[in-house]
Amino acid sequence: MIERSVIERVNEVVDITEVIQDFITLNKRGVNYLGLCPFHNEKTPSFTVSPAKGIFKCFGCGKGGNAISFIMEHEHLAYQEAVKYLAKKYNIEIVEKELSSDEIAKQNERESMLVLSDFAQKYFSKTLWETDEGTEIGLSYLKERGYRENTVDKFQLGYSPEERDAFTRFAQKNNFKNSYLLKTGLSIQKNEKVYDRFSGRVIFPIHSLSGKVIGFGGRTLKQSSNTAKYLNSPESEIYHKSKTVYGLFHAKRSVTQANKCYLVEGYTDVISFHQAGIENVVASSGTALTSDQIRLIKRFTQNITILFDGDEAGIKASLRGIDLILEEGMNVKVLLFPDGEDPDSFSRKHNPETLNKYLSQNETDFVLFKTKLLLEESKNDPIKRATLINDIVKSIAVIPNRINRSVYIRECSNIIGIKEEVLYSEINAINKKRNENNQK
Ligand code: CTP
Ligand code: MN
Repeated sequence: MIERSVIERVNEVVDITEVIQDFITLNKRGVNYLGLCPFHNEKTPSFTVSPAKGIFKCFGCGKGGNAISFIMEHEHLAYQEAVKYLAKKYNIEIVEKELSSDEIAKQNERESMLVLSDFAQKYFSKTLWETDEGTEIGLSYLKERGYRENTVDKFQLGYSPEERDAFTRFAQKNNFKNSYLLKTGLSIQKNEKVYDRFSGRVIFPIHSLSGKVIGFGGRTLKQSSNTAKYLNSPESEIYHKSKTVYGLFHAKRSVTQANKCYLVEGYTDVISFHQAGIENVVASSGTALTSDQIRLIKRFTQNITILFDGDEAGIKASLRGIDLILEEGMNVKVLLFPDGEDPDSFSRKHNPETLNKYLSQNETDFVLFKTKLLLEESKNDPIKRATLINDIVKSIAVIPNRINRSVYIRECSNIIGIKEEVLYSEINAINKKRNENNQK
């Protein structure tokens, strides 16, 4: 932890114009500076820097903040890292707060778990590429799925041998303690003996935002219904499922460039998209997104497109969860694949050009999509219609931006055939109730 005084010192001495000019060209306009915004695509400059106030603000995309937040946003750094960056630029000595012995123990523990995870990833990859079992079973499976070698390599895919303690013994021989093997969940204990969690599975490493391996998903190659298709690392000091987005490390640069993020369900969807040349894609790993995950994505873009396989039950189940994304102020679109296809299968059946075309022609705004879907369902049924209106209104009510809200109200009022005023008063009622609850 960096000491408070360092942060204060940084805030005192940084010259925001200087900081930003390391990345973009600024021209003086009166007391301020003006340039092309690095956070969205624009041809006429609307990115303004005020040296007097120490802030920047883009009138095009709305992003704004101080020097620290600029560096966080632009370089995709966490707060502490951004402060360190600036301290270095201005030759401010970085004083880290003394950690308590508890904190040091925690940090060492995390460090050891990361080292072990990295070790495991290398072992699984080596097994995949260099052993008979790995190439004959694991690699041939991946190739059958259509993955090229460079794709397998890029995602550091691997294979864990059938032998029930092959990895565990190898790790022990390399002086890794059982306690870390168990804490990372790479091994499991049964009747005093320690076994591999992932034996006989193809391995998908899960990376942190900075590219460290923090967990694994393992896919079985057996058809039998009594083994779970995927096993995943358990929650641990280094792997928090609700705060991790699969694929974000590999996607972040292209998410920023495209200013859009595709959200798919699984590991294989992400990887197949990359292979088809679409890299701004992440996976929820089969569950509804959490607010933490949404905020992670939001560090890179405001625009998210959720890709569904064409299964109606699945879509309805996820509608509720999407309100959470609206609530974060993000623009949400949805896209359906033809019946029986998921992003993985679709992208393998069609060439990248067709895929791209399909994506750009079929995405629809979420609120309008939901409105139409529910309207279709409640045809000729007044009671269902009332629930529908309620449901839509709930989604609109959580949208933080008032202008966006009013655009939706107008469009939905047209689609459903209900006066805007009625929708407004419903929304006001919902928000009033929410405020009251918040106050309690
Ligand atoms: N998942 C999981 N545990 C399971 C099933 C699924 O953790 N028993 C997660 C995985 O992250 C998986 C995602 O949910 O990638 C989507 O599940 P599914 O569509 O069943 O798997 P696919 O990714 O399509 O895998 P595959 O194409 O290999 O069948
Ligand atoms: Mn699949």
